[in-house]
Amino acid sequence: MNITLKVWRQKGPNTVGAMETHEMSNISGDMSFLEMIDVLNDNLVREGKEPIAFDHDCREGICGMCSMFINGEAHGPGRNVTTCQLHMRSFNDGDTIHVEPWRSSAFPVIKDLTVDRSAFDRIIQAGGYVSVNTSGATQDANAIPISKADADEAFDAATCIGCGACVATCKNSSAMLFVSAKVSQLSLLPQGQTEAKKRVKRMVNQMDLEGFGNCTNTGACEVECPKGISLTNIARMNRDFMKSSLG
Ligand code: SF4
Ligand code: FES
Repeated sequence: MNITLKVWRQKGPNTVGAMETHEMSNISGDMSFLEMIDVLNDNLVREGKEPIAFDHDCREGICGMCSMFINGEAHGPGRNVTTCQLHMRSFNDGDTIHVEPWRSSAFPVIKDLTVDRSAFDRIIQAGGYVSVNTSGATQDANAIPISKADADEAFDAATCIGCGACVATCKNSSAMLFVSAKVSQLSLLPQGQTEAKKRVKRMVNQMDLEGFGNCTNTGACEVECPKGISLTNIARMNRDFMKSSLG
């Protein structure tokens, strides 16, 4: 297939960016979107031009790196897929495809399509963990009974890959879906309950410090999340936050 690619180019965080147009021919429908950009970058390097900077790592939907806004949608037109899992057959011959980085002041552009998502790391550092006594008297986690329903819900929340699509797609740049998934995956399990009150306060506080907006229940995050993280996690986090604030 032949496509016209309009891609955001920006030399650095403090420079003005602009869309750049590339005509591409003989693109296979079986290529992933990232493989299509690989082909473009090969061509650019051969022409002595600078390749397009973009993030990627696993290329199998688990690392959350391949952040891109494609035709106005986080990770493009597919549902429950990351950009690396999006195939070119999702587009038509002759299409014009617009590619931009995540747009959020909490995720500043580093270069072209790469953004700085270290705000998410700082939220995790604020409380997204379970402290473990490593004195040698640690209880085996497998010896603690957990109901099937709680285990399933915790696992569903734990599938969040920290990609940031929820933030990029939210009109308020809210990180509530991400933070609530990380809070839930721990607080639903007995191991996570000891620190649950402290955790939710610290993580929400750090989320606010990073400049993310608040949730107005629009639901766009849930639609665009590649892992199908549910809005019910936000409701649970709000309840936990209220309880922790009451003492
Ligand atoms: S909640 Fe979904 S969209 Fe948000 S960071 Fe996690 S996986 Fe990505
Ligand atoms: S490259 Fe890892 S999720 Fe896409």
